[in-house]
Amino acid sequence: MRKKLIAVLMTACMALSFAACGSKSTGGENSDKKQITVGFSQVGAESDWRTANSKSMKETFSEANGYKLIFDDAQQKQENQISAIRNFIQQEVDYIVLAPVTESGWDTVLKEAKDAKIPVIIVDRMVKVSDDSLYTAWVGSNFELEGKKACAWLDAYLKANKKDTSEINIVDIQGTIGASAQIGRTNGLEAAVKEHSNWNLLAKESGEFTQAKGQEVMESMIKQYGKKINVVYCENDNEAFGAIDALTTAGYKVGKDGDVIVMSFDSTNAGLTDVTSGKVILDTECNPLHGPRVKEIIDKLQAKQSVDKQQYVDEEIFAADDTVKSVTVDGKEYKVTATTKDVISKRAY
Ligand code: AHR
Repeated sequence: MRKKLIAVLMTACMALSFAACGSKSTGGENSDKKQITVGFSQVGAESDWRTANSKSMKETFSEANGYKLIFDDAQQKQENQISAIRNFIQQEVDYIVLAPVTESGWDTVLKEAKDAKIPVIIVDRMVKVSDDSLYTAWVGSNFELEGKKACAWLDAYLKANKKDTSEINIVDIQGTIGASAQIGRTNGLEAAVKEHSNWNLLAKESGEFTQAKGQEVMESMIKQYGKKINVVYCENDNEAFGAIDALTTAGYKVGKDGDVIVMSFDSTNAGLTDVTSGKVILDTECNPLHGPRVKEIIDKLQAKQSVDKQQYVDEEIFAADDTVKSVTVDGKEYKVTATTKDVISKRAY
């Protein structure tokens, strides 16, 4: 009888310890809930923007908040992202979050995730898939709108400076070819060039969203077009830093009263610092703080609530001065902020 009682007690103990294992308490905001495992495939660490984005994800999906984050840096290679997703599936994570390097090439691996019944949340850039049910939700920027806002500002700025009838020669240092951020920003510029008979797009080439490549591309554009260049349209801040280095080393004066103006995207702290000094004339924001946005989607899915399939983030425009107060794109007005140190100090990245 005593032996029987001991056996019953032991079985009960084992059952309890298994239950405790399945609902690991973390002491964080999910403390009474099961720890949620998130596999995050990050593009890489190519830019200041990306560093801020990784930080936002790591801070949000911390152990203290009740998550286990498996973070994979793909070093800007799609094949690394595909292997990371396959590993996440093998590890039976609860959610897969993908920041895709380019838009295409995801159908097969996302189908594998779907078959494994793991929800996939796409963040930042978009994916182009034949079947939208291959991902659960997307949150990120409207990159084409960013490009249109930047070009609407350039148009207004040239008008205000009575240069709207002069020939304006532009070079485009593009982002990673095939990434939504590149496609949208390049499209925005090309559409504006078509609308302005005096705007010429002299050249476009990828700077891979990095400072080193941005500098290299600018050096070769200087060799080819020299003083003809009036506007350098950089598709992110790090490319702008590289382009400015190349221009100043070649003896060009950058800025409002100089030989050439540099435009950029992202509005990181370092980018906006160059806006206050006038080295960058305009920085159109691309907001990287996606951690809390992805968490909100996961919270809703956990609560079995519906989520928006696509969510665009609101973004600002920062100029070196207040020549242009606002721009209108597709019938909507967007305020332009004249950048000061105070403006930068209120920003988180
Ligand atoms: O997809 C967002 C872009 O990727 C940012 O503009 C850039 O800095 C990053 O590398």
